[in-house]
Amino acid sequence: MSRFRKDPDPRFWRINRSIEFDWRLAPYDIDQSQAHARGLHQIGVLDAAELERIDAGLERVRARMGEHGFEFEEADEDIHMAIERLLGEEIGPLAGKLHTGRSRNDQVATDVAMVVQAHSLRAIELAGAAMERLLELAQRHRDWAMPGYTHLQRAQPVYLGHHLLAYFWMLGRDVLRFQFALDSASVMPLGSGALAGVNWEIDRRAVADDLGFEHVSHNSIDGSSNRDFVLDYLSAASTCAMHLSRLGSEIVIWSSSEFGFCELDESFSSGSSIMPQKKNPDSAELLRAKSPRVAASYAALLGTMHALPLTYGKDMQEDKEPLFDAIDTIEACLDATEGMLAGIEFDRERLEAASGDEMLAATEVADLLVRRGVPFREAHGIVGGLVRDAVEKGKSLSELTPEELAERSEHLDKSFYEVLTRSSWLESKRIEGGTSSASLAHQLEQAGKTLAAVRARAQEERG
Ligand code: ARG
Repeated sequence: MSRFRKDPDPRFWRINRSIEFDWRLAPYDIDQSQAHARGLHQIGVLDAAELERIDAGLERVRARMGEHGFEFEEADEDIHMAIERLLGEEIGPLAGKLHTGRSRNDQVATDVAMVVQAHSLRAIELAGAAMERLLELAQRHRDWAMPGYTHLQRAQPVYLGHHLLAYFWMLGRDVLRFQFALDSASVMPLGSGALAGVNWEIDRRAVADDLGFEHVSHNSIDGSSNRDFVLDYLSAASTCAMHLSRLGSEIVIWSSSEFGFCELDESFSSGSSIMPQKKNPDSAELLRAKSPRVAASYAALLGTMHALPLTYGKDMQEDKEPLFDAIDTIEACLDATEGMLAGIEFDRERLEAASGDEMLAATEVADLLVRRGVPFREAHGIVGGLVRDAVEKGKSLSELTPEELAERSEHLDKSFYEVLTRSSWLESKRIEGGTSSASLAHQLEQAGKTLAAVRARAQEERG
């Protein structure tokens, strides 16, 4: 019996039915139901025999789903209803007792929070693995000079190890963001009911402990309408994907014949169906291209939640597809990044040759003038003039004669030529966070400690 006389119109059913995507909640939903049943037993709603039958029945539902695929029927609206139906097939009318003191509203919020916890942790582990590769590469290439760029124009030389560590720190911040998402999903909504709480004094803290939640929500209205933890995950994943897109983009550029700075392993490249000579950096291109769809998922859910009146609205069923798509995308990208970095080879000669471009020393010459009392802005102008002279005369900077130097500034003597020897440009950046070998050694040490902390944190969360 039901309030309704009519069946749902198929056109409504098509947009209303979420089982096509929310089947992925099944293992979480079953864990949750088992914990909820224990909570009901504790307050005497289920006796020991009933608890035992429900628990065993849910295990059989789990197995049926695992072994025979998904036995869903057209009438199954969502995974929660499907599991209830299958449980009914296993244990009969007793299955109907399980929904005591629970609404699908707090049930689904709890499942989704469990998903966010599990996958935030997974993202932390995968980011940690990619960070380890970056750190290894940075160690191995700590003294390989290369040009650093701004506007994709050669700017100042840096060590390749220094450049690679930039990505290490980006991922390190991503780990903090995923940790935040994990913490934000560690508040259990179950017990909020539809919106007002439930009529049964289930020990929520015991159920939370049972399910691995740190806290229980303070307010049932907030509990059933909150999806911030999903947004927190999507925000973390969007930023992380953006970082990987920048890495991918640089590798695409660097592996072109024009740059020739690096080469990907064959196992992360593909050939062309028509041009036999091609070896394309597809993995790096895809890291670049996958990022906007993660950000789109974030934007989609923000849009869904925007101006939504409290508490639950069916709108919120639309939280799952963006979340699942972002999970699949960011996990695949982090994993591919690790593999791609494991086999990348850099070309020391090409990097060195490009970093030997004397124009990269322009800032060094300006600083030389500053040390002689010339204000930096003025020094910048003088060196700009020297660069113009050199370009117009078709010379390199060191080919300018002492007379030509004197025309630009009285402070330019033979130390001008010394400054143009390359090693000094890198080794002068001794400030903390700079590219000099000494600063880089310190940075590598810090990176090692950070990675150890990430690993320890992930291990602790795994428990
Ligand atoms: N499939 C629904 C969702 O994902 C479950 C909650 C349904 N609640 C309701 N009041 N109709 O949001």
